[in-house]
Amino acid sequence: MKFIIFIIFLSSSCFADTFWSNCPGSNVPGPDYIVSPQCSGDRCQAVRGESVTAKIYATPRAIHNELITRVTAFIFGIGISLPMQPPFDNACNYIHYANDTQTSCPVYPNIQYVINVEMQISSLFPAFTNTRVQVEFWDGNQRAACGQIIADLI
Ligand SMILES: *[C@@H]1O[C@H](CO)[C@@H](O)[C@H](O)[C@H]1NC(C)=O
Repeated sequence: MKFIIFIIFLSSSCFADTFWSNCPGSNVPGPDYIVSPQCSGDRCQAVRGESVTAKIYATPRAIHNELITRVTAFIFGIGISLPMQPPFDNACNYIHYANDTQTSCPVYPNIQYVINVEMQISSLFPAFTNTRVQVEFWDGNQRAACGQIIADLI
């Protein structure tokens, strides 16, 4: 019996996704959750020159007319910007309702949306391991959302 409880504990902790979190010290919303075949447990792993897919579920707290995407990898603590090519430079171009029907901006508060990412990772990006990658969406000069993942880029 104790053994079975131990197994259940072990498997539930293995399946808990800790690869994403809210941005530290941030007062803007983070993701509700993220699902990606490249991510499980405590880590995401992507290959330069190959594609990644991810569904980022998020619920805005305000109306936003644009969601300019900024991705920053903190390599040895130094923020390196990873430029996004169109259409991924603005999440309004690929935002969906939670039922996967495509929509666009403006997005409205207290509705859950899903940002469907399906993009090729530039082979010009630097390789890194066990690195914090911050993903922000900006509406003008206001940050609308911020989340982070722990990732390897090989
Ligand atoms: C998906 O959700 C949106 C917003 O709630 C709704 O307008 C749309 O009709 C839904 N589409 C489907 C196929 O259920």
